[in-house]
Amino acid sequence: MRFFIDTANIDQILEAKDLGILDGVTTNPSLMAKEGITGKNNILKHYKKICDLVDGDVSAEVISTNYEGMVEEGRMLADLADNIVVKVPMIKDGVKAISWFTENDILTNCTLVFSAGQALLAAKAGATYLSPFVGRVDDISWDGMELIREIAEIYAIQSFETEILAASIRSPLHIVQAAKSGADVITSPLSSILGLLNHPLTDIGLEKFLADYNKLNS
Ligand code: E4P
Repeated sequence: MRFFIDTANIDQILEAKDLGILDGVTTNPSLMAKEGITGKNNILKHYKKICDLVDGDVSAEVISTNYEGMVEEGRMLADLADNIVVKVPMIKDGVKAISWFTENDILTNCTLVFSAGQALLAAKAGATYLSPFVGRVDDISWDGMELIREIAEIYAIQSFETEILAASIRSPLHIVQAAKSGADVITSPLSSILGLLNHPLTDIGLEKFLADYNKLNS
């Protein structure tokens, strides 16, 4: 399973890259706004900066909600760098735009996915990645991870090549569960990735090893 970081924050992207485990980046308009990046030119410049820092795929989301607008924006984004993935919402015009991008060899990430039916449509349109929002499904007391399992089963049976990118990850446990549920990729905030490191027995064990070493070597 590959690890993407879900942020537009350059320091966090560099910290994840420094760990040696970073396979890509996802952003969305809310994450760009959180970094205070506004205006078309600044947004494009910021995407380009991220693409230059990261070897893997970088998802950049379109703002348009009609087919023509999405195609125009997506072409502009795809021209920025080879590792741009055009992120397109799961709406009727979005599916049509994904089909166009697929025919024109532009990578896509179908976002805002909450059902197996939506996952089927996105795969039929040839989406490179599919982003089911695990955390937001959990937020309404449904089972986000069950959605990942259901889509993974369908994609395996139907031999779809679309990769399942578990999104809206909220905890280290979500990352582990996504790995068990058949996700190809997770996209996560840095805090949840770093949370995977934690275990009290590791801390206790390390303290004891060092104390024993120091008894004989100081
Ligand atoms: C990433 O592709 C999604 O936009 C993101 O994971 C959504 O996360 P949230 O539900 O925590 O906003």
